[in-house]
Amino acid sequence: MALEINLKDKVVLITGVTSGIGAKIAMVFAKAGANVAGCGIEKSESKEAVGFLETVNNFEQEVLYVQSDVTVKEELENLVQQTVDKFGRLDILVSNAGANVFEGAETCSEEDWIRNHELNLASHWRLAKLAKPYLEKKNGTIIIMTSNHAYSSIPGCFPYNVTKTALTGLVRSLAIEWGPLVRTVGIAPGFIDTPGNQKWFDSFPDPEAERQRTIDLHPVKKIGTSEEIGAWCVFLASEYASFASGTTYLLDGGRSALMQDE
Ligand SMILES: NC(=O)c1ccc[n+]([C@@H]2O[C@H](COP(=O)([O-])OP(=O)(O)OC[C@H]3O[C@@H](n4cnc5c(N)ncnc54)[C@H](O)[C@@H]3O)[C@@H](O)[C@H]2O)c1
Repeated sequence: MALEINLKDKVVLITGVTSGIGAKIAMVFAKAGANVAGCGIEKSESKEAVGFLETVNNFEQEVLYVQSDVTVKEELENLVQQTVDKFGRLDILVSNAGANVFEGAETCSEEDWIRNHELNLASHWRLAKLAKPYLEKKNGTIIIMTSNHAYSSIPGCFPYNVTKTALTGLVRSLAIEWGPLVRTVGIAPGFIDTPGNQKWFDSFPDPEAERQRTIDLHPVKKIGTSEEIGAWCVFLASEYASFASGTTYLLDGGRSALMQDE
């Protein structure tokens, strides 16, 4: 029989499902048979939220969207409560929502430092704590979305790189303190073909040339897709990954293996 991942009857809560990587993670979980709860900063009536609901419905899975700001503790409490009220269980948390806060180490304001820490670090810890009692009942999995900036960075990507690095420590702490009932892993994507990165290409006079230049920086001669990140999440949440915990998986197409100053 072919190797199969079947998450039928499992419930996954994913943050940041209205765009980019999170939207495709939701799609791949629905394809694997999971029921999906998701949040984003956008209103429930927004086309992004409706798009999420339709995507999961297309795979005939149950779905819930809760508009939530992950930097507000009460909104996280409401998100987890609504999820367990609707589905009665929680098996997997994919803590994905985040945003680039790209400044210089000298010019970064106190306000941006704090905003970045709330969004790209503290929110993941707070949500994991809220989900823990439910995940423990199901031998659940936590997947935290960090970044290749956790391992190497470029000037002007501070303080984002600081919190993405710290998330690898969060992954280790949750794994050693909350195992064996809950496994925790991290994913550190490199350059992914998302709307945000398309905007970046579009800021160049020749967007296609810039896209090709970026592709050429990668030994695999491509940039990553959000569906690939979704597939990794599904695998890491499955029975096949039961020995994976405490580690963050860098998925960067080999870019960091290559010395760029050749
Ligand atoms: N795109 C990449 O190449 C890349 C690379 C490495 C890591 N990442 C990480 O992957 C994650 C997703 O990135 P993306 O490129 O898909 O982003 P995106 O901007 O396309 O989507 C971000 C999602 O997060 C949600 N979000 C943002 N702020 C929020 C808040 N305060 N409360 C609730 N939801 C909020 C948005 O609603 C949206 O659904 C982020 O954590 C990002 O740091 C992305």
